Amino acid sequence: MAMQPRPLRSDAVPDRVAVAAPAKVNLRLCILAREEGGYHALETVFCALSLADEVAVARGDRGIRLWMEGGIDVGPPEQNLAVRAAGRFYAEIGESPAIDLHLTKRIPAAAGLGGGSSDAAAVLRALNALHGDLLPRETLLQLGIELGADVPFFLCGSPLALAWGRGERLMPLPPLPPRSVLVAHPGEAMSTADAFREVAALRGGSYEPRASLIDPAALASWDAVAALAVNDFEPVVTHRIPILRDALAAMRASGARIALLAGSGSSLFGIFDDITTRDAAATQLEELGMRAWRAETLAEMAVPQR
Ligand code: C5P
Repeated sequence: MAMQPRPLRSDAVPDRVAVAAPAKVNLRLCILAREEGGYHALETVFCALSLADEVAVARGDRGIRLWMEGGIDVGPPEQNLAVRAAGRFYAEIGESPAIDLHLTKRIPAAAGLGGGSSDAAAVLRALNALHGDLLPRETLLQLGIELGADVPFFLCGSPLALAWGRGERLMPLPPLPPRSVLVAHPGEAMSTADAFREVAALRGGSYEPRASLIDPAALASWDAVAALAVNDFEPVVTHRIPILRDALAAMRASGARIALLAGSGSSLFGIFDDITTRDAAATQLEELGMRAWRAETLAEMAVPQR
């Protein structure tokens, strides 16, 4: 009797899926308006970095269990965005979770680098791969924005994207050639909610429309992006953490093409043409007392590995 070809079980239903969860920086971050509920409408350019956490999901006994490595304090598990993402995923597919989440943290927390959001997006992507791509991308994006403003970017598939709203309206862009990046952290955290509150106080509730035009060519080269590079949080966050002002000045003086706060801080980043200039800047910032990470801009987003 002829043998019938049988699909390998491990191909059809993986038991474990792993994916890198990259950090992000914002090459442009403009706060456009305050919504009625208190949230702010943004115009921003997200760029993913090679600095990344590692997320793996594996079938477990029952519930959602979190296993952490990397020694970065991310608070209690029930508030962890990766755990909440898994909870939302299982609520959406109507199943009880029986899953182990393995999270290796390398991205500093509360630093404006989107680490928690990226972990959440990686959990959604990995769980979807574990469940045979059950949910369409639109549903994942919707779950993403319910978890946090930066999550949809990490689901959009491109390492570079222009975004509006809270970050849920996205235009993926062709990646730019990889550049050397320096991320520096002052050792003091900045809460996103506080940073928005301080910008609101500074502006006295007035958000006059500011005319701006971004033509596609403005996002097609590093030179052009450098001309658009701005972060509206800079005045309030550098006021709160004064060493950031010196650090940004040092980064710019040492040859950074772009030097900005990462998101709402408290870390900042520089984009450099070459590794030597970047490494010289890293030494200077370490002398100022900052902790430094060396990375590159990403040319593509990693896909979940079964
Ligand atoms: O989305 P995420 O959890 O990072 O936001 C943290 C806080 O930052 C929100 O609770 C809100 O107070 C503020 N925020 C805002 N406008 C945004 C994003 C965040 O006011 N677009």
